[in-house]
Amino acid sequence: METAALHFLYYLFIAVCWCSGNILQAIELPKYTLILSESDFQIRLYDESTWLSSRVSGTSFDQSYRIGFQRLYQYIHGANSNSSKIAFTAPALTSVPSSSSPSGNAYIVRIFISTRFHGKPPLPNPELKLRIEKWKSQCIAVRKFSGYANDDNVNKEIEALVTTLNKQSITIQDTNSYIIANYNSSSHNTTQRLNEVWINVSGIGTQC
Ligand SMILES: *[C@@H]1O[C@H](CO)[C@@H](O)[C@H](O)[C@H]1NC(C)=O
Ligand SMILES: *[C@@H]1O[C@H](CO)[C@@H](O)[C@H](O)[C@H]1NC(C)=O
Ligand SMILES: *[C@@H]1O[C@H](CO)[C@@H](O)[C@H](O)[C@H]1NC(C)=O
Ligand SMILES: *[C@@H]1O[C@H](CO)[C@@H](O)[C@H](O)[C@H]1NC(C)=O
Repeated sequence: METAALHFLYYLFIAVCWCSGNILQAIELPKYTLILSESDFQIRLYDESTWLSSRVSGTSFDQSYRIGFQRLYQYIHGANSNSSKIAFTAPALTSVPSSSSPSGNAYIVRIFISTRFHGKPPLPNPELKLRIEKWKSQCIAVRKFSGYANDDNVNKEIEALVTTLNKQSITIQDTNSYIIANYNSSSHNTTQRLNEVWINVSGIGTQC
């Protein structure tokens, strides 16, 4: 083979290895279409998705997230019907009951199930009391914030998004609970951490 052709193949090989290396390292996130992007919020149309959920009758966001995430962590570390380790995904969602919701409404912590399972992941060990949930395609209003999501800021961030949506006359589907999405493990540097508030919405344009 000619030197030029060999060089071409060599660089193609490096490029493919480099790309697939990055794909292997990338954490899988649920897929969406961006419908609207403003300075302080976005509207996203999420594809159908599967989540594994843990219901916690905790008294605060911090406590409930810790307890719920601990159970989900056991599942991905082998407490499942296949006794297999399962790759990390993001985000982890926590439903926070709103102050106006009926009392007794629990916090629910969820992790995203990779699409490679086609909606049929290994079953969680029964003692973990986890549930597999299917979500229909859904329009979600999103507000980003950095640092650590915790009891000191989650309600303020939720209220800020609710206020924005009310100003824009965007319909909130369910005012009983709002979701906090955590993207990074707790060991990651504070300044670059990504969190979001998610609220199900409808009545925007033709797709939402
Ligand atoms: C079950 O575990 C085996 C071995 O680790 C793995 O190859 C297989 O993909 C797993 N199946 C599921 C549904 O996770
Ligand atoms: C948001 O929408 C999804 C999909 O329709 C649904 O399963 C979920 O319960 C909703 N969450 C809230 C907090 O309303
Ligand atoms: C947090 O997760 C987001 C989304 O996956 C990523 O873009 C960001 O770099 C992560 N931040 C850190 C500090 O790892
Ligand atoms: C986090 O990262 C920023 C910018 O990269 C850096 O200035 C800061 O010292 C880091 N903080 C910690 C706690 O590591």
